[in-house]
Amino acid sequence: MTELPRIPLAGVIGAPVAHSKSPLLFRHWLDTYRLPGHYVPLHVDPGDFEEVLRSLPKLGFVGANVTIPHKTALIGIADDVTDRARQIGAANTVTFRDGRIHADNTDGYGFIENLLQSAPEWSAAAGPALILGAGGAARAVIHAMLEAGAPEIWLANRSRDKAEALADHFGARVIPVDWAGIATHLHAAHTVINTTSLGMAGKTELTLDLDGLHSGQLVTDIVYTPLETRLLREASARGCKTVDGLGMLLHQAVPGFERWFGQRPEVTEALRRTILS
Ligand code: ATR
Repeated sequence: MTELPRIPLAGVIGAPVAHSKSPLLFRHWLDTYRLPGHYVPLHVDPGDFEEVLRSLPKLGFVGANVTIPHKTALIGIADDVTDRARQIGAANTVTFRDGRIHADNTDGYGFIENLLQSAPEWSAAAGPALILGAGGAARAVIHAMLEAGAPEIWLANRSRDKAEALADHFGARVIPVDWAGIATHLHAAHTVINTTSLGMAGKTELTLDLDGLHSGQLVTDIVYTPLETRLLREASARGCKTVDGLGMLLHQAVPGFERWFGQRPEVTEALRRTILS
């Protein structure tokens, strides 16, 4: 009897995970490219993470996205960890291959690809960047901006010690600046990036004085609920090029989909509409 090929499975592992947009995103691509496969949300508590992860290949899983609270734990469990995931200290994409667990971090890749798709003329290398925030998201963005050639990164965080720790980790091109005194940096930066949760629906608003923004700058926010945050609205009103954060979420999923289902998917307007509907 001929054996039918196994249908590849993938999913997103997190706790909580019910809010994740990834199942919608992967379904859209599987349908668009008419590929066999399933992508499911997997709610896994931290104490079960390693055991679940190790059993997934036996169930037919080819890979998974990994989200809060497992992104750091994955680094310690995987057999192979990419340099970028190691430097960021977290991984979001796991691939099961040849009996091994490979971990990667595609957040920074998604961040840069989103900017390049929306603003093809933009280059990280063209001038200094001001980054707000020094949490997990900031680590991926800093790593990607350095790789993309940013000459200098001014890092402003409410708790300055965290900005200083990241500057120590990433090297001399990352310079901590005072959260309360960023007006000059806001004016002089080529790229302005919010990696904090400020401005997210249900969270505190970003109340910084944004008067220093002007045309010629690119301003982006990793917050995408709402799609147009106060930062982006005020930046746009001052003539800046703005890029919303939804694209980062979509682009960070591209490498995983390609590795697991064998097709490089495109981030299209139709996909954005699906995710926003
Ligand atoms: P993530 O992993 O998503 O980046 P995180 O690690 O909790 O989340 O980081 C959240 C970021 O938002 C931090 O930079 C945090 O600043 P602190 O390090 O000072 O806590 C920033 N943040 C959150 N609420 C803030 C607020 N009300 N004002 C200023 N910064 C805030």
